[in-house]
Amino acid sequence: MNNDIKEVLYSQEDIKAVAEKLGQEITKDYEGKNPIVICVLKGAILFMADIAREIKTYCELDFMDVSSYGDATESSGEVKIIKDLDTSVKDRHVLIIEDIIDTGRTLERLVDLLEHRNAASVKICTLLDKPERRVKGVSPDYVGFEVPNEFVVGYGLDYMGKYRNLPYVGILKPAVYENND
Ligand code: PRP
Ligand code: MN
Ligand code: MG
Repeated sequence: MNNDIKEVLYSQEDIKAVAEKLGQEITKDYEGKNPIVICVLKGAILFMADIAREIKTYCELDFMDVSSYGDATESSGEVKIIKDLDTSVKDRHVLIIEDIIDTGRTLERLVDLLEHRNAASVKICTLLDKPERRVKGVSPDYVGFEVPNEFVVGYGLDYMGKYRNLPYVGILKPAVYENND
């Protein structure tokens, strides 16, 4: 599995440091607001688990499964809700946790939906931002790292369902996906 990685972009230590930093900002911004912190499955699970521990004030955790890529390397443009939230967001402050923003289609759809449900506020925290690929006007409020336009996997990010369990973010060797296309 590690052999399929061309280069490690962000190590476990890099990610831990950035989660601590963002956690401090989020703690300060959400003190007394009891936000609903939403993990966008499946990619955000690892980041959610780490960032949640760095939020040192009251909050609730919820999960939503939204998928646009399926098994392709490109976003299809169609965003499907596979599992909705258990909690009502009406009049609640909402913080969405993502692993990566690429075209922005997933988050545009999600932010629209939560605003439509009358959330008090909707903010976005993403580990990775790939602004070069953006086709929608989504901009995150908390960003771990800006990434170059490379196919990155690990720490929640997958290719064909694999590599999510890598503890770091790395660039996938092109040979891996060229063989599959
Ligand atoms: C990936 C990633 C983001 C989204 C970003 O999820 O985890 O949620 O794509 O792409 P976008 O900005 O172009 O919409 P994916 O749909 O692959 O589902 P997954 O999290 O289950 O892997
Ligand atoms: Mn995702
Ligand atoms: Mg995916």
